[in-house]
Amino acid sequence: SSASLKVDKDFRIGEVDPRLYGSFIEHLGRAVYGGIYEPGHPAADGQGFRADVLELVKELRVPIVRYPGGNFVSGFNWEDSVGPAEGRKRRLDLAWRTIETNAFGLNEFMDWCRKAGTAPMMAVNLGTRGPHEARELVEYANHPGGTYLSDLRVGHGYRDPHGIKVWCLGNEMDGPWQMGGKTAAEYGRTALESAKMMKWVDPSIELVACGSSGTYMPTYPEWEATVLDHTYDHVEYISLHRYYENHKDDSATFLARSLDMDEFIKTIVGVCDYIKGKKRSKKNVFLSFDEWNVWYHSNETDKKLTPWQIAPPQLEDVYNHQDALVVGCMLISMLKRADRVKMACMAQLVNVIAPIMTENGGRAWRQTIYYPYLHASVFGRGTALVPLVQSPKYDCKEFTDVPYIEAVAVHNEADGEVTVFAVNRHLSEPLQLEIDLRSFNKSALIEHLAMTSDDLYAANTADVPERVKPYRAVGTVAGGAPGSFAAKLPKASWNVLRFK
Ligand code: AHR
Repeated sequence: SSASLKVDKDFRIGEVDPRLYGSFIEHLGRAVYGGIYEPGHPAADGQGFRADVLELVKELRVPIVRYPGGNFVSGFNWEDSVGPAEGRKRRLDLAWRTIETNAFGLNEFMDWCRKAGTAPMMAVNLGTRGPHEARELVEYANHPGGTYLSDLRVGHGYRDPHGIKVWCLGNEMDGPWQMGGKTAAEYGRTALESAKMMKWVDPSIELVACGSSGTYMPTYPEWEATVLDHTYDHVEYISLHRYYENHKDDSATFLARSLDMDEFIKTIVGVCDYIKGKKRSKKNVFLSFDEWNVWYHSNETDKKLTPWQIAPPQLEDVYNHQDALVVGCMLISMLKRADRVKMACMAQLVNVIAPIMTENGGRAWRQTIYYPYLHASVFGRGTALVPLVQSPKYDCKEFTDVPYIEAVAVHNEADGEVTVFAVNRHLSEPLQLEIDLRSFNKSALIEHLAMTSDDLYAANTADVPERVKPYRAVGTVAGGAPGSFAAKLPKASWNVLRFK
């Protein structure tokens, strides 16, 4: 059977903010220690940063990295993480029941960001701490000098301010698992007071208020309405978090889960605009999808972990082929709302539910989910175009009318390229996709990258790191009309079709 995709260069969704391809490093498991930072590793540079990991991060062109959590940030004293190494305090991290040595901290992270060619997205602790400590951190990081805190930074060897532009006002404050969790009204007030003071220190910063931890939260989406009622005039973004799982081993349902993401985004855009109307505001609040991924493989192992270890393996999901398809669908969902989703962070970047895996002292490799993320980040910059998709559909346990084909197109005006991203959710059949690029009538195919596998459970490991990876697919042919093409999308596949 066949499906079709029509796009027109004048039917624009919006500019793709490059920060849509952000990621996340939390002080959790081996993300920092044994991940990005491992003094003594053969590939470690003078600061202990793993050069092999840096190379993979640079290949992904990650524009922004959220730090230092996550749940971790809600118990974090940023002061513990700066200054001479000998003075760094060891602390219990109650979020992940581990010991944090603070050997790697704020300034090391800023150095790592520079080497990785990325920007920081810094979260403040609004769990066990509040507005005062938040504004002190902004002063330490961003104030040029001449005050106790800014001179402290200078004394720590960082004469120039870090200029951290994007700040998250806490993390998942609606969650009972969160240290210092709050009601929407309590959080709304704290977030507002923090926002005011942080911007008084540095008016150039942008702020992200915490939305719900997921659509399953009992307070969703009233939480967002209450929080925005307090903070609307003082923040630029509201956060969304969502992880998908396949515990019931039902691939048809699993692959359809991005339909939930579509609804989630639609609802939060609606809540933002409702508060905008209520306040008679002229400003839009945008969405920061600052935690998204597939997460479930490691859940059982993590429950058995012995507490109070330093950087134990935690949340080390080994991703398979179908996980990569869900990640591809999630990227397409966000691109379809590029008008409102301006930032997003794949959670996370290294070892912890991550596209990049490492061995302590050993190898680093790319998981399956690395590839859709790589392709979207490299080829998905420009203007997102409205995708008119016609596709056969299926029903499954949790969704009805699921299109087999999920697709979107991005026009990169600078390079004169149009890239179509498409997932074929059909588990047993290839689908023909008729692509009509109407207004790009001179276009020709540059390449069709595809990723498929006969085994939905195939994964990449240290020993077989390239079991699942993209290849150049053949068989896309020009159609009768100018700018029309017919592509064969393999069963259960991720596809990138680049046209010039
Ligand atoms: O990314 C892992 C965890 O998931 C984060 O710490 C938390 O914010 C979310 O629940």
